[in-house]
Amino acid sequence: MSGAVIVTGAASGIGFACVEMLLARGFKACAIDIAPIPDGAFAGDPDRLLSVPTDVSDPLACADAVAAAVKKFGKIDALIHMAAVHSTRTWREIDADHMNEVLGINVTGAFNMSQAAALEMEKTGGGAICLAMSGSIMVSGLGGHGRGGIAYISSKAAIIGVTRGLARSLAPINIRVNAVSPGSTRTAMTADYSEEAVRHAGAKTLAGRMGEASEIASVALFLISDEAGYIQGQIINVNGGGSLGL
Ligand SMILES: NC(=O)c1ccc[n+]([C@@H]2O[C@H](COP(=O)([O-])OP(=O)(O)OC[C@H]3O[C@@H](n4cnc5c(N)ncnc54)[C@H](O)[C@@H]3O)[C@@H](O)[C@H]2O)c1
Repeated sequence: MSGAVIVTGAASGIGFACVEMLLARGFKACAIDIAPIPDGAFAGDPDRLLSVPTDVSDPLACADAVAAAVKKFGKIDALIHMAAVHSTRTWREIDADHMNEVLGINVTGAFNMSQAAALEMEKTGGGAICLAMSGSIMVSGLGGHGRGGIAYISSKAAIIGVTRGLARSLAPINIRVNAVSPGSTRTAMTADYSEEAVRHAGAKTLAGRMGEASEIASVALFLISDEAGYIQGQIINVNGGGSLGL
Protein backbone atom coordinates (compact mmCIF):
# COMPACT_ATOMS: atom_id res chain seq x y z
CA MET A 1 0.00 0.00 0.00
CA SER A 2 1.07 3.58 -0.38
CA GLY A 3 -0.33 7.06 0.07
CA ALA A 4 0.16 9.90 2.52
CA VAL A 5 -1.77 10.10 5.77
CA ILE A 6 -1.94 12.92 8.31
CA VAL A 7 -2.10 11.67 11.89
CA THR A 8 -2.84 14.01 14.78
CA GLY A 9 -2.09 13.20 18.40
CA ALA A 10 0.97 11.50 16.95
CA ALA A 11 3.29 12.10 19.91
CA SER A 12 1.53 9.61 22.15
CA GLY A 13 -0.76 6.64 22.51
CA ILE A 14 -3.05 5.68 19.65
CA GLY A 15 -1.84 8.41 17.27
CA PHE A 16 1.76 7.30 17.81
CA ALA A 17 0.76 3.69 17.11
CA CYS A 18 -1.01 4.82 13.90
CA VAL A 19 2.15 6.51 12.60
CA GLU A 20 4.28 3.46 13.47
CA MET A 21 1.83 1.16 11.68
CA LEU A 22 1.54 3.41 8.62
CA LEU A 23 5.31 3.63 8.20
CA ALA A 24 5.68 -0.14 8.69
CA ARG A 25 3.08 -0.68 5.94
CA GLY A 26 4.83 1.59 3.45
CA PHE A 27 2.71 4.73 3.83
CA LYS A 28 3.99 8.27 4.15
CA ALA A 29 2.91 9.94 7.41
CA CYS A 30 2.59 13.53 8.54
CA ALA A 31 2.75 13.39 12.34
CA ILE A 32 0.99 16.28 14.04
CA ASP A 33 0.93 17.08 17.73
CA ILE A 34 1.10 20.07 20.05
CA ALA A 35 3.79 18.20 21.99
CA PRO A 36 7.20 17.84 20.36
CA ILE A 37 7.88 14.56 18.60
CA PRO A 38 11.50 13.67 19.28
CA ASP A 39 13.77 13.00 16.29
CA GLY A 40 14.08 9.28 15.79
CA ALA A 41 10.82 8.51 17.63
CA PHE A 42 9.67 6.48 14.64
CA ALA A 43 11.70 3.77 12.99
CA GLY A 44 11.94 3.67 9.20
CA ASP A 45 12.63 5.80 6.18
CA PRO A 46 12.79 9.50 7.21
CA ASP A 47 11.70 10.48 3.68
CA ARG A 48 8.29 9.01 4.44
CA LEU A 49 7.81 11.01 7.65
CA LEU A 50 7.12 14.67 8.36
CA SER A 51 6.54 16.05 11.86
CA VAL A 52 4.64 19.32 12.17
CA PRO A 53 4.08 20.83 15.63
CA THR A 54 0.48 22.03 15.54
CA ASP A 55 -2.26 23.07 17.94
CA VAL A 56 -5.39 21.58 16.38
CA SER A 57 -7.60 24.16 18.10
CA ASP A 58 -6.02 26.80 15.81
CA PRO A 59 -7.57 26.59 12.31
CA LEU A 60 -4.76 28.52 10.63
CA ALA A 61 -2.17 26.20 12.16
CA CYS A 62 -4.16 23.21 10.86
CA ALA A 63 -4.23 24.67 7.35
CA ASP A 64 -0.47 25.31 7.53
CA ALA A 65 0.18 21.74 8.69
CA VAL A 66 -1.85 20.30 5.82
CA ALA A 67 -0.01 22.58 3.38
CA ALA A 68 3.34 21.34 4.74
CA ALA A 69 2.22 17.72 4.23
CA VAL A 70 1.13 18.46 0.65
CA LYS A 71 4.42 20.23 -0.04
CA LYS A 72 6.42 17.23 1.19
CA PHE A 73 4.30 14.39 -0.20
CA GLY A 74 2.56 15.96 -3.22
CA LYS A 75 -0.93 15.12 -1.93
CA ILE A 76 -2.67 13.63 1.06
CA ASP A 77 -4.96 10.63 0.98
CA ALA A 78 -6.37 10.49 4.49
CA LEU A 79 -6.55 12.01 7.95
CA ILE A 80 -6.52 10.06 11.20
CA HIS A 81 -7.42 12.54 13.92
CA MET A 82 -6.57 11.30 17.42
CA ALA A 83 -5.50 14.54 19.14
CA ALA A 84 -7.51 15.29 22.26
CA VAL A 85 -7.12 16.33 25.86
CA HIS A 86 -8.52 14.44 28.78
CA SER A 87 -10.44 16.14 31.58
CA THR A 88 -10.92 14.42 34.89
CA ARG A 89 -12.57 17.35 36.66
CA THR A 90 -15.80 16.71 38.53
CA TRP A 91 -18.91 18.80 37.94
CA ARG A 92 -17.99 21.12 40.86
CA GLU A 93 -14.46 21.68 39.54
CA ILE A 94 -15.38 22.53 35.95
CA ASP A 95 -15.77 26.19 35.05
CA ALA A 96 -16.79 27.72 31.72
CA ASP A 97 -13.19 28.39 30.69
CA HIS A 98 -12.26 24.75 31.22
CA MET A 99 -15.34 23.50 29.41
CA ASN A 100 -14.64 25.78 26.44
CA GLU A 101 -10.98 24.79 26.36
CA VAL A 102 -11.74 21.06 26.25
CA LEU A 103 -14.45 21.53 23.62
CA GLY A 104 -12.18 23.85 21.63
CA ILE A 105 -9.44 21.23 21.39
CA ASN A 106 -11.50 18.05 21.17
CA VAL A 107 -14.47 19.18 19.08
CA THR A 108 -13.45 22.31 17.19
CA GLY A 109 -9.99 20.77 16.75
CA ALA A 110 -11.52 17.70 15.09
CA PHE A 111 -13.48 19.98 12.76
CA ASN A 112 -10.49 22.25 12.03
CA MET A 113 -8.26 19.37 10.98
CA SER A 114 -11.02 17.68 8.99
CA GLN A 115 -11.89 20.88 7.14
CA ALA A 116 -8.26 21.65 6.30
CA ALA A 117 -7.62 18.07 5.12
CA ALA A 118 -10.88 17.89 3.16
CA LEU A 119 -10.13 21.10 1.29
CA GLU A 120 -6.90 19.50 0.07
CA MET A 121 -8.27 16.00 -0.58
CA GLU A 122 -11.10 17.54 -2.62
CA LYS A 123 -8.49 18.86 -5.08
CA THR A 124 -7.16 15.36 -5.76
CA GLY A 125 -10.38 13.40 -6.04
CA GLY A 126 -11.21 12.49 -2.43
CA GLY A 127 -9.95 10.50 0.53
CA ALA A 128 -10.94 9.34 3.98
CA ILE A 129 -11.08 10.65 7.54
CA CYS A 130 -11.10 8.73 10.81
CA LEU A 131 -11.97 10.59 14.02
CA ALA A 132 -11.92 9.39 17.64
CA MET A 133 -15.04 9.07 19.75
CA SER A 134 -15.03 7.27 23.12
CA GLY A 135 -16.93 4.41 24.70
CA SER A 136 -16.97 6.49 27.91
CA ILE A 137 -20.00 8.40 26.66
CA MET A 138 -22.22 5.31 27.03
CA VAL A 139 -21.88 4.94 30.79
CA SER A 140 -20.62 8.48 31.33
CA GLY A 141 -18.27 9.29 34.17
CA LEU A 142 -17.93 11.38 37.27
CA GLY A 143 -14.30 12.38 36.71
CA GLY A 144 -11.64 11.99 39.40
CA HIS A 145 -9.14 9.14 39.79
CA GLY A 146 -7.89 9.60 36.22
CA ARG A 147 -11.31 9.00 34.73
CA GLY A 148 -13.10 11.32 32.32
CA GLY A 149 -15.66 13.78 33.65
CA ILE A 150 -18.39 15.82 32.01
CA ALA A 151 -16.15 18.10 29.96
CA TYR A 152 -14.34 15.17 28.32
CA ILE A 153 -17.46 13.09 27.87
CA SER A 154 -19.39 16.00 26.32
CA SER A 155 -16.52 16.60 23.91
CA LYS A 156 -16.42 12.96 22.81
CA ALA A 157 -20.21 12.78 22.46
CA ALA A 158 -19.95 15.75 20.09
CA ILE A 159 -17.64 13.70 17.86
CA ILE A 160 -20.71 11.68 16.85
CA GLY A 161 -22.18 14.88 15.40
CA VAL A 162 -18.92 15.89 13.76
CA THR A 163 -18.52 12.43 12.21
CA ARG A 164 -22.04 12.17 10.87
CA GLY A 165 -22.22 15.80 9.76
CA LEU A 166 -18.92 15.59 7.91
CA ALA A 167 -19.78 12.18 6.44
CA ARG A 168 -22.91 13.64 4.85
CA SER A 169 -21.22 16.91 3.84
CA LEU A 170 -18.11 15.35 2.32
CA ALA A 171 -19.63 12.32 0.59
CA PRO A 172 -20.36 14.36 -2.56
CA ILE A 173 -16.63 15.13 -2.88
CA ASN A 174 -15.72 11.48 -2.39
CA ILE A 175 -14.41 11.74 1.17
CA ARG A 176 -15.54 9.04 3.60
CA VAL A 177 -15.74 9.96 7.29
CA ASN A 178 -15.94 7.50 10.19
CA ALA A 179 -14.71 7.28 13.77
CA VAL A 180 -13.27 4.68 16.07
CA SER A 181 -14.70 4.50 19.56
CA PRO A 182 -12.07 2.97 21.81
CA GLY A 183 -12.87 1.45 25.15
CA SER A 184 -10.36 2.07 27.95
CA THR A 185 -6.96 1.78 26.31
CA ARG A 186 -3.50 1.79 27.89
CA THR A 187 -2.02 5.17 26.89
CA ALA A 188 -0.90 8.38 28.58
CA MET A 189 -4.57 9.36 28.77
CA THR A 190 -5.36 6.54 31.17
CA ALA A 191 -1.99 6.50 32.96
CA ASP A 192 -3.51 8.13 36.04
CA TYR A 193 -6.20 5.48 36.49
CA SER A 194 -6.15 4.11 40.00
CA GLU A 195 -5.46 0.36 40.30
CA GLU A 196 -9.12 -0.13 40.98
CA ALA A 197 -10.07 1.82 37.84
CA VAL A 198 -7.73 -0.35 35.72
CA ARG A 199 -9.24 -3.52 37.19
CA HIS A 200 -12.76 -2.22 36.71
CA ALA A 201 -12.09 -1.16 33.10
CA GLY A 202 -10.72 -4.60 32.22
CA ALA A 203 -13.43 -6.48 34.07
CA LYS A 204 -16.15 -4.69 32.08
CA THR A 205 -14.91 -6.24 28.82
CA LEU A 206 -15.21 -9.72 27.34
CA ALA A 207 -11.47 -9.55 26.68
CA GLY A 208 -10.93 -9.11 30.44
CA ARG A 209 -8.40 -6.31 30.00
CA MET A 210 -7.89 -2.77 28.74
CA GLY A 211 -7.02 -2.29 25.07
CA GLU A 212 -3.62 -1.58 23.58
CA ALA A 213 -2.98 1.45 21.36
CA SER A 214 -2.06 -0.78 18.40
CA GLU A 215 -5.45 -2.54 18.66
CA ILE A 216 -7.21 0.78 18.06
CA ALA A 217 -4.70 1.97 15.44
CA SER A 218 -5.24 -1.09 13.25
CA VAL A 219 -8.96 -0.31 13.03
CA ALA A 220 -8.29 3.35 12.23
CA LEU A 221 -6.01 2.23 9.38
CA PHE A 222 -8.72 -0.14 8.14
CA LEU A 223 -11.31 2.66 8.17
CA ILE A 224 -9.21 4.90 5.94
CA SER A 225 -8.40 2.04 3.56
CA ASP A 226 -10.25 1.18 0.34
CA GLU A 227 -11.31 -2.08 2.03
CA ALA A 228 -13.65 0.06 4.13
CA GLY A 229 -14.98 1.81 1.02
CA TYR A 230 -18.63 1.12 1.85
CA ILE A 231 -18.40 2.27 5.50
CA GLN A 232 -19.55 5.86 5.87
CA GLY A 233 -20.65 7.95 8.85
CA GLN A 234 -20.10 5.09 11.33
CA ILE A 235 -18.69 5.00 14.82
CA ILE A 236 -16.88 1.69 15.24
CA ASN A 237 -16.55 0.32 18.79
CA VAL A 238 -13.14 -1.17 19.55
CA ASN A 239 -13.53 -2.15 23.16
CA GLY A 240 -13.01 -5.87 23.75
CA GLY A 241 -16.76 -6.36 23.98
CA GLY A 242 -17.14 -3.69 26.64
CA SER A 243 -20.31 -2.30 25.08
CA LEU A 244 -22.20 -5.54 25.85
CA GLY A 245 -22.76 -4.05 29.28
CA LEU A 246 -21.17 -6.52 31.66
N1 LIG B 1 -6.94 5.91 25.88
C1 LIG B 1 -8.23 5.66 26.02
O1 LIG B 1 -8.66 4.91 26.92
C2 LIG B 1 -9.23 6.26 25.07
C3 LIG B 1 -10.56 5.81 25.16
C4 LIG B 1 -11.52 6.36 24.31
C5 LIG B 1 -11.15 7.32 23.38
N2 LIG B 1 -9.86 7.74 23.31
C6 LIG B 1 -9.55 8.77 22.32
O2 LIG B 1 -8.50 8.31 21.48
C7 LIG B 1 -7.71 9.42 21.04
C8 LIG B 1 -6.25 9.16 21.33
O3 LIG B 1 -6.11 9.05 22.77
P1 LIG B 1 -4.80 8.49 23.48
O4 LIG B 1 -5.25 7.59 24.53
O5 LIG B 1 -3.82 8.07 22.45
O6 LIG B 1 -4.32 9.84 24.19
P2 LIG B 1 -2.86 10.42 24.50
O7 LIG B 1 -3.05 11.38 25.61
O8 LIG B 1 -1.88 9.32 24.65
O9 LIG B 1 -2.53 11.22 23.16
C9 LIG B 1 -3.23 12.38 22.80
C10 LIG B 1 -2.28 13.28 22.03
O10 LIG B 1 -3.02 14.44 21.62
C11 LIG B 1 -2.14 15.54 21.72
N3 LIG B 1 -2.85 16.81 21.82
C12 LIG B 1 -3.54 17.29 22.88
N4 LIG B 1 -3.98 18.51 22.62
C13 LIG B 1 -3.58 18.82 21.37
C14 LIG B 1 -3.71 19.97 20.56
N5 LIG B 1 -4.37 21.07 20.99
N6 LIG B 1 -3.17 19.96 19.32
C15 LIG B 1 -2.49 18.86 18.88
N7 LIG B 1 -2.31 17.76 19.62
C16 LIG B 1 -2.85 17.74 20.85
C17 LIG B 1 -1.32 15.27 22.99
O11 LIG B 1 -0.12 16.03 23.02
C18 LIG B 1 -1.10 13.76 22.89
O12 LIG B 1 0.13 13.47 22.25
C19 LIG B 1 -8.27 10.64 21.76
O13 LIG B 1 -9.13 11.34 20.88
C20 LIG B 1 -9.06 10.06 22.92
O14 LIG B 1 -10.12 10.90 23.31
C21 LIG B 1 -8.89 7.24 24.13
